[in-house]
Amino acid sequence: MHDTLTHPLDDPDIDPSDIAAQAADDIAQLTGVDHHDIAVTLGSGWGKAAELIGETVATVPATGVTGFSRPALEGHVGTLRSIRTADGRSVLVIGARTHYYEGHGVRRVVHSVRTAAAAGATIMVLTNGAGGIRESWRAGQPVLISDHINLTADSPLEGATFVDLTDLYAKRLRDIARSVDPTLDEGVYTQFRGPHYETPAEVQMAKRIGGDIVGMSTALEAIAAREAGMEVLGFSLITNLAAGIQRTPLSHAEVIEAGRRAEPVISSLLARVIEAL
Ligand code: 6GU
Repeated sequence: MHDTLTHPLDDPDIDPSDIAAQAADDIAQLTGVDHHDIAVTLGSGWGKAAELIGETVATVPATGVTGFSRPALEGHVGTLRSIRTADGRSVLVIGARTHYYEGHGVRRVVHSVRTAAAAGATIMVLTNGAGGIRESWRAGQPVLISDHINLTADSPLEGATFVDLTDLYAKRLRDIARSVDPTLDEGVYTQFRGPHYETPAEVQMAKRIGGDIVGMSTALEAIAAREAGMEVLGFSLITNLAAGIQRTPLSHAEVIEAGRRAEPVISSLLARVIEAL
């Protein structure tokens, strides 16, 4: 465990991919699994998916792995799990998301994604709880992320790294997800910094520029996953409609409660999608 002053990701002279490689070594040591095929980040409401994906081989606290920060939020587990699927693939389940709004910098936000790549994962599944802009959507509904708009004005890439983001949320993987659940809607995820929810005017702006979903994660992680050469699949659980779309004020308690209610259904969906990947 490192404090802020000595955190390795805060040292500009250290390449974050070297720290990710060290973290992948730690995971191999702690779990006894030296290669993972797929990685999944579990956001609000998605936590129960782990048990359904396969047999848990090992669960380790994220704080024992190089570069991981202490979990900031209740409902974010703070563990890394190695799971073996029925057909013998290893899935790294990341229950330890660092959010951009925590203010520790984008390197820490994407460290888990870089670690997953260093552990061998070629598919990164990103899940979150988010607000819905489309009036036809309902709290508790999972939607596929088709693309994103990054409104953080930040990037996980450093220097002149001109990465193409066409088909970032891979159509190949979205088609597989829809083969599991043909009723899945999809939409554009808009990442705001948070931690406050948007004003109704900001939600209208997000809508007019092409957004369907508002959230506080995922886009920066997806960019890092693309840089690392992974294919990305993204899901949002709509925990509430966004400010001004729903008439009642938003609350974190409402978001957590919607996640809890939807958890059995969306966790089973996620497990079936992973089986089909
Ligand atoms: Cl309405 N906005 C953002 N940014 N994140 C959310 C949300 C809204 N609802 C759940 N998470």
